[in-house]
Amino acid sequence: MKPDSSFRELTPAPDAALVDVRFGTQDLRLPTGENLAAALLVAGIMPFRQTPVSGAPRGPFCMMGACFDCLVEIDGVTQQACMLAVTAGMEIKMPSAKGDRNA
Ligand code: FES
Repeated sequence: MKPDSSFRELTPAPDAALVDVRFGTQDLRLPTGENLAAALLVAGIMPFRQTPVSGAPRGPFCMMGACFDCLVEIDGVTQQACMLAVTAGMEIKMPSAKGDRNA
């Protein structure tokens, strides 16, 4: 069962197209090849990150690589989720939060 989310898939992916992904401590099944930010929103993930100064929550806004509010950390590299496709085995984390820049 999917968590509450304001976002819906236009065409739900068949089970065969779903791959295992982890966001923090949450195990997710997302459609392979889909836009990562969109897939995380449909899965109910929010926020994606917190601002380093105030700790304010942030999530995708522009969906075209301009705002950087969708930043996530994958394999130790901070990247824009809206510019990535879902692949099997992704280990996604929030980028380091306020006061935790070296974690
Ligand atoms: S949502 Fe704006 S850069 Fe990704």
